[in-house]
Amino acid sequence: MLIKNLATSHVGENEVTPERVFKARRRFLNMGAATIGGAAISGIAGGLLGALPARAAGASLNPGKWSGSTDEPLTEFEAATSYNNFYEFGTSKEGPRLNAENFVTSPWTVEIAGLAKNTGVFDVWDLIKKDQLQERIYRHRCVEGWSMVIPWVGVPLVEIIKRMEPASNAKYVAFQTLHDPERMPGQQRSVLQWPYVEGLRLDEAMNSLTMLAVGIYGQELPPQNGAPMRLVVPWKYGFKGIKSIVKIEFTEKQPPTSWNISAPTEYGFYSNVNPNVSHPRWSQAKERRIGEFLRRKTLMFNGYADEVASMYSGMDLEKFF
Ligand code: MTE
Repeated sequence: MLIKNLATSHVGENEVTPERVFKARRRFLNMGAATIGGAAISGIAGGLLGALPARAAGASLNPGKWSGSTDEPLTEFEAATSYNNFYEFGTSKEGPRLNAENFVTSPWTVEIAGLAKNTGVFDVWDLIKKDQLQERIYRHRCVEGWSMVIPWVGVPLVEIIKRMEPASNAKYVAFQTLHDPERMPGQQRSVLQWPYVEGLRLDEAMNSLTMLAVGIYGQELPPQNGAPMRLVVPWKYGFKGIKSIVKIEFTEKQPPTSWNISAPTEYGFYSNVNPNVSHPRWSQAKERRIGEFLRRKTLMFNGYADEVASMYSGMDLEKFF
């Protein structure tokens, strides 16, 4: 299986990983655990990381280059893998890293279902072709008001959708996380309705920015970041980036989404990053980039307006939030 090949790869990681990604990861690996918290991030996450043990790096991936990456400074690897939202492993930021440590993600299958020609159950590494992996550095903006800059490794979702040949009446794509309360202890509590579900309009799913990610900083995703495969939609709030996906379904009707089910007045289906539409309980005009002290202005569509704004022309984005 591909995972085995990756684990035994003898290619030096600096040969296959862009230099600044390599450096961000090295800085993390070389740091003592006691100094990680203060050095890696300030503000929101400062302090909590110091108590966490350092971890071994995951298996290296070998992504190709992509020309559209942002050149903003990368968030430290330690912050991106220690300050997470993954309610299946607890509702605190540090919980997922601690509680998902032994989450087994191999073997892993993904069901492709619904209105498409090539449905079925696929091994994740048959779905995601190793030789088509790309690294894309995207801004990552959480609805809570923090942001990061993350080097994801994955494939454009559109490539997989094309292989599945959706039917002409397929209008949406629904995604589902694993439901297994034994392996995901957070599912033993009803903080959300399980399994976690998300959805995109078909054109959003087929936008060239939308990714299925299997890696981060040149290596396989750690469990807390959504191993083995998660969605990345950089112009939307982070909660659209559903983790540990086991099912992708083409539908005619708009699918339900977890946060909309939980709090419909606070989280809509679209959830595009929009500094002009406040969350009912806080403004979305600014954000704190993890690792920075001062807050910065949030950009429309998280800075990806050129690539995505046309999909929403004529829509009232206050109504379709
Ligand atoms: N996916 C699942 N299955 N469960 C979750 O709780 N949290 C979401 C999203 N995907 C979540 C999830 C939220 S709120 C955010 S902000 C991002 O994951 C965080 O991704 P990161 O931890 O890799 O930064």
